[in-house]
Amino acid sequence: MSESPKPPTHPENTTTPTIGTLSELELSNWEQLLAGVEQPESHFKTMTIATGTQRGADARLVVLRRVDKARKYVWFYTDSRAEKVLQLEACPMAALLFWDGEQQLQLRLSIETRLHTDDYIADEHWKKLAVSSRKAYLSGPVPGSEQPQPYPGFPEQFADKLPSAEESEAGRKNFAVIECRVLEMEYLHLSRSGQTRARFQYEPESRMVWLAP
Ligand SMILES: Cc1cc2nc3c(=O)[nH]c(=O)nc-3n(C[C@H](O)[C@H](O)[C@H](O)COP(=O)(O)O)c2cc1C
Repeated sequence: MSESPKPPTHPENTTTPTIGTLSELELSNWEQLLAGVEQPESHFKTMTIATGTQRGADARLVVLRRVDKARKYVWFYTDSRAEKVLQLEACPMAALLFWDGEQQLQLRLSIETRLHTDDYIADEHWKKLAVSSRKAYLSGPVPGSEQPQPYPGFPEQFADKLPSAEESEAGRKNFAVIECRVLEMEYLHLSRSGQTRARFQYEPESRMVWLAP
């Protein structure tokens, strides 16, 4: 006997959360973002940042490093010589994209970025950064530069050990903090019992509204 057709492969959404008010939803979204920084199991630990380029658009994953839910800011770190930094210098407006497959939840943030390299803000973040993370900023070659052979992103001497705190200081000059002021947040929850979509605007004025999915 032939097998009966398999059900669609996308995950079944067994829990349908109570939707609540727009204000409750907005608060919950910011708590989810905060969990991305504080809770190791969160699906919001990383996000895609999409930027505009002269040729069109570009996108890549970065780690969410800090969230200020009262002031509506998020931060990530990168190498100051990276292509994305040049792109953000040319056009500071960008988008952040989060996806939690377990909750079937997408958050899209429209942001205005500000680059911190040689200031007290970058210093503050750098001071708190573990040497294991600082190691990523010790690369001699500029990120994205062509290499004659595979290059791991740090000097050979650190292939199987971490730099000392003192050695890691050489990475400070390459360290950049990208501050993202959230101008707008869009929420989308997928569910067989109905999608939920809402927009939370912060600039030029605060406004929340449900949207047709
Ligand atoms: C899971 C994951 C996390 C990443 N986190 C960061 C990060 O926090 N900062 C960063 O600059 N690059 C991070 N990267 C690497 C970027 O996606 C990207 O490849 C790199 O920064 C070069 O991008 P650019 O040439 O567009 O500047 C991460 C990549 C992955 C897969």
